[in-house]
Amino acid sequence: MAASGARMSARALLSMTGDLGVEAVAYSELAGRIRVLIADGRIPVDTRLPSERELAAGAGRSRTTIVATYQALRESGHLVSRRGSGSRASLPHLAEVSKRPGRAVDFAGSVPPPVDGLSELIAETVAALPDITAFPGFDLLGQDALREAIADRYTDRGLPTSPDQIIVTTGGQHAISLTAHTLIRRSDVALVESPTYPHAYEALQRAGARLVASPVTAEGWDVPHLLGLIAQTRPRAAYLIPDFHNPTAASMDPEDRARLAHAARAVGTTLVVDEATVDLDIDRPWDNGPFARHALPHTADGPGVITLGSLSKSIWSGLRIGWIRADAAVVRRLVQARPAGDLGTPPIEQLIGERVVRRLDELVPARRRLLREHRAVLGEALHRRLPQWTMPWPDGGLSMWVQLDRPASSALAAACRARGISLMAGPKFSIDGSLERFLRLPFTSPTADLDAGVAILADAWAELGDVRLAAR
Ligand SMILES: Cc1ncc(COP(=O)(O)O)c(C=O)c1O
Repeated sequence: MAASGARMSARALLSMTGDLGVEAVAYSELAGRIRVLIADGRIPVDTRLPSERELAAGAGRSRTTIVATYQALRESGHLVSRRGSGSRASLPHLAEVSKRPGRAVDFAGSVPPPVDGLSELIAETVAALPDITAFPGFDLLGQDALREAIADRYTDRGLPTSPDQIIVTTGGQHAISLTAHTLIRRSDVALVESPTYPHAYEALQRAGARLVASPVTAEGWDVPHLLGLIAQTRPRAAYLIPDFHNPTAASMDPEDRARLAHAARAVGTTLVVDEATVDLDIDRPWDNGPFARHALPHTADGPGVITLGSLSKSIWSGLRIGWIRADAAVVRRLVQARPAGDLGTPPIEQLIGERVVRRLDELVPARRRLLREHRAVLGEALHRRLPQWTMPWPDGGLSMWVQLDRPASSALAAACRARGISLMAGPKFSIDGSLERFLRLPFTSPTADLDAGVAILADAWAELGDVRLAAR
């Protein structure tokens, strides 16, 4: 990728647009390919493109074709030509955005607001604050009372658990990275879903894993593929989100959970099951309890299931309370490995966390009501303004995994950025840059933003026209 403000040679540009001479690509097609490269940032704004003469010679095309291409790009606002400084990449809405009042719409994060009733619980906790000198400053394991509350909740949900099977972390992401760094040795194979939660595969890669991926759609897992891949690659770990999967919102059938646990155990794979989204049930007709009910415990001669949890999605991401449930011996290894990355979860947050976990059944219904209402607003807006997109209806979770009618998710994200909307395009959720036909749309923003955001999305989509991704 060229640096912004740099000059780009004809050769560099043609390596991104594909061979024009052989394909006899029309000027409008070439302009379309260059627009996408600019829109998704592979040609940074302000890059100086090659002169018309240089590009014509390099591409083996007539000067007239290239002149028409640049003219089309100028007309759509993707090129600004000035005497003396050549033709520079631009985005059509840059000028407008800088003038636009109001706040940006966030479709990138899936971060719901604090749950109703949380402020009262925080106030209650602070009012009753015990003598904090009684707590250690660095707490690598987590407070007993919170670990007991978390263990009791698993037990109540059908998975007997004792506090020594729980380590409290500084959020779910920390739980993922601590698990990855403890479990993975350099070049171990780790299996992930595709799509999956991006910061999870990043953490696994950073721990040294070689990733393999098995597909998930809004309809669910390709179970034969998943079981086949486990048998074939015998991964050290498989990271899965079986309840209200991020980003597809799919949930894995109970029978498939048992088959998966069995297949993993047969080849020595540890299942790392992320249940950060498990409470986000809007109207799923069943609840099968924690995934680990299907697995035998971790033993010296065999792997088990490591379960990750978090209060971020059900309660508030600002609390930064997560946890790992594993066999007690594994918990001890996690505690030993922890100081390299983090020296403990703050004590006051843990005190709040304990009250929250003990009252989850009272608090979570408000979260579900909010998600139900927001899902309806986003669904209605998409149905009205973008009927050509396929919109699976999630029965829980925080987002819709919509299928576009053209593979141009990255181009849309780039075009939206210029209009004040942040989006995470489909490829962000895959380990290989595929999934251009998909887009995750969270319904966590205020409802007015959801509606306004979809109007801008529809506008941007129409304007992208039938631009296609260049030579992917
Ligand atoms: C599936 C999943 N796991 C874990 C996390 C991390 O959340 P936190 O670190 O806020 O607990 C997220 C956040 O988006 C997520 O979607």
